[in-house]
Amino acid sequence: MCGIVGYIGSKQAQDVLLHGLSKLEYRGYDSAGIAIFENGGVSLKKSVGRLANLAELVDGPDRITGSQGIGHTRWATHGRPSDENAHPHQDGTGNFTIVHNGIIENYMQLREELTAKGHTFLSETDSEVVAHLLDDMWTGNFFDTVIAVSQRIHGAYALGIMTKHEPGKLIAVRKQSPLIIGLGEGENFIASDIPAILEYTRNVYILDDGEIAVLTADRVETFDLVGNPTTKEVYEVTWSASAAEKGGYEHFMLKEIHEQPRAIRDTLTGRISEDGQNVVFDEINWPAGFAEKIDRVHIVACGTSWHAGMVGKQAIERLTRIPVDCEVASEYRYRDPIVTENTLIIVITQSGETADTMAALREAKLQGSRVLAITNVVGSSAAREADDVIFTWAGPEISVASTKAYTTQLVSLYLFAGWLAQERKTPFVSEIPSILSGLQQLPELAAMALQTESEIESFAKNLADKENAFFIGRGLDYAVSLEGSLKLKEISYMHVEAYAAGELKHGTLALIVEDIPVIAVVTQESLYEKTLSNIKEVKARDAFVLAVAFEGDEEIQKSVDQVITIPRVDPFLAPVIAVIPLQLLSYYASVVRGNDVDNPRNLAKSVTVE
Ligand code: M6R
Repeated sequence: MCGIVGYIGSKQAQDVLLHGLSKLEYRGYDSAGIAIFENGGVSLKKSVGRLANLAELVDGPDRITGSQGIGHTRWATHGRPSDENAHPHQDGTGNFTIVHNGIIENYMQLREELTAKGHTFLSETDSEVVAHLLDDMWTGNFFDTVIAVSQRIHGAYALGIMTKHEPGKLIAVRKQSPLIIGLGEGENFIASDIPAILEYTRNVYILDDGEIAVLTADRVETFDLVGNPTTKEVYEVTWSASAAEKGGYEHFMLKEIHEQPRAIRDTLTGRISEDGQNVVFDEINWPAGFAEKIDRVHIVACGTSWHAGMVGKQAIERLTRIPVDCEVASEYRYRDPIVTENTLIIVITQSGETADTMAALREAKLQGSRVLAITNVVGSSAAREADDVIFTWAGPEISVASTKAYTTQLVSLYLFAGWLAQERKTPFVSEIPSILSGLQQLPELAAMALQTESEIESFAKNLADKENAFFIGRGLDYAVSLEGSLKLKEISYMHVEAYAAGELKHGTLALIVEDIPVIAVVTQESLYEKTLSNIKEVKARDAFVLAVAFEGDEEIQKSVDQVITIPRVDPFLAPVIAVIPLQLLSYYASVVRGNDVDNPRNLAKSVTVE
């Protein structure tokens, strides 16, 4: 995830910017750069790779001197990691220098328009268009020009901007991408995240969505996006520097669980047509006729990504009626699967580096199949080697236990299922507008599901002294149960299994004894009665049943020991919401058991060995 730092004051900006960027390294990045006002011009240095590469470029005699500048760590989105694509970016004249986090959705259109007017672009990024647009729309006043440009760019963005026309001033703009202003004595700062400026000040303004800040060394003024002044309260940061990296949360996992409303919104950004009727996937470039020719789909992945694939299978089958197999990559790669040029292979991998998944991808390509990767990491092996890529835009996931990667994979799969249905003009296309409207409600519903946290925390205290537990569900609820079970076992170290609820009586029921915790996921209306019968089977053996069910479900209240309610959502999309209390449950069970939540024993974030 990209990081922004800006400084204006009397210190050497190079030191402040490099220090600030180093404090954002934990977010993940692939290149870095700084731009500083020096001797009436702007000196700009950037480098692919680690921050140390950039530090070397500006060391000793190459040091940049000046006390106003902006810096950036880039996590590639549009365009591969490279020196050219690294930020800051400038327009052709070098009048404007910008750093940007987020996505400018209409950059292609703006780029074409500006190219036609004679602008030459040096990078593949969406961000560079902002610098050129500022130059093109220059009104003679920095602030007015930024307001005018912000009306023309669509998408999510946090911007740090400076111009040679008005040195001694920095402008910051926030739209759906976090940005804060650090308030010092005779110096002020811009940052995408608090750790970047904690060394210098604990007083900050947290910019609201659609706010602009104008900074000089002595003053900070804030405005809305049409230029009306806004008033801000100073927020005093009381957390330690290491807590600040976690956004004030105790662990990265909890932070990442809480990031899901934002992450889901980012996954959806730019992928639904303005009228809400269609899925847009500009990134998929299939040869003409391929969509119609596909006669089977293989989804291949590991762990949590495989569980996302189980939901994806049901989504694609329902909307396209193409048969879909979903298989773990370590099995798939060695079993000589039957694939043809009409088989679509979908690999799902957060890291884009998992050895088994990559082996399956390579094998499928050798067999002549077309491979679509769903991944979170731009520039990863999966992103480079697949024929087409859907990025999930979850942002870096640091905790080993995958949370926001899973929910954004689900959203990507729903979108893809809808898109494929559109491409094949299936009879189910008529359902797409309502599914898209449901998808757009998910960020808000995810935020509501997070409100189960304190209830879950107290349940986790009781659960944590047990050694065994079961998850049950049917249909999509079974897929979610598998993920809930994996999450709980990997960080609590309890023995946990998930079962298709109807399968219990074929053996596992023998393990159901008094007080054993059974967590039932009950969101699928069409399977409701059937799941209820299975719940009664375990209740009859005195299990302790916790149900995750929709609010207003009176029946379930009568049948189980405890209910965690989640907001109502189309059952087809319910996995995205139902998994959230299960993630919280694993988190708190792990905390109560005193485990290392973010780094569970024996596990690695990216499994690059077989
Ligand atoms: O990076 P990937 O999605 O390919 O990783 C696959 C699994 O190793 C991963 O999902 C793992 O199961 C999770 N860390 C579990 O939380």
